[in-house]
Amino acid sequence: MKFFIDTANLDQITEAEALGVLDGVTTNPSLMAKEGITGKENIIQHYKDICEIVAGDVSAEVISTDFDGMIKEGEELAKLHPQIVVKLPMIKDGIKACKYFSDKGIRTNVTLVFSAGQALLAAKAGATYVSPFLGRLDDISTDGLHLISEIRQIYDNYMFETQILAASIRHTMHVIDCAKIGANVMTGPLSSITGLLKHPLTDIGLAKFLEDYKKGN
Ligand code: E4P
Repeated sequence: MKFFIDTANLDQITEAEALGVLDGVTTNPSLMAKEGITGKENIIQHYKDICEIVAGDVSAEVISTDFDGMIKEGEELAKLHPQIVVKLPMIKDGIKACKYFSDKGIRTNVTLVFSAGQALLAAKAGATYVSPFLGRLDDISTDGLHLISEIRQIYDNYMFETQILAASIRHTMHVIDCAKIGANVMTGPLSSITGLLKHPLTDIGLAKFLEDYKKGN
């Protein structure tokens, strides 16, 4: 399973990268705004900065919602760095743009996916990644994990190469459950990665080992 961090915060990206288990970064316009990154030039520079920190894929989202706009923006983004993956919304023109980029060998991430049918369409259009939003489904009392299972089954049935990028991950159990289902990637906050480190028995056991070592030395 690949681990992506879902943030535009450079310190957090650096910290996750330093852990040695980071495979990429996802961003979106809200995450950029949260970091105070506004205006096209600043956003472009921020994508470049992120690509300098991590070795893996960096999703960069288009703002346009029409086919021509998405193609223009996506082509500009893809040219920024070989690690950039063009993130497209799950709407009619987004699917058309996905097919266009797929035919050109430009990698894509179809985002804002909330149903198995949407995921099937994204795979048919040749998406590199499909991003079902697990946490946002859970937020409205819908079983987000069930959607991940449905997509896994459909993609396996037809051997689609599109990778399931479980998005809107909120905590460590989301990560573990997605790993059990077979999501190819998870993207979540830094806490969803570092939280995996924690177990009280590890801390208690280590304290005892160190205590016993000191007794003998
Ligand atoms: C995915 O690429 C999105 O950036 C993200 O996972 C959304 O998560 P949220 O529901 O926590 O905003």
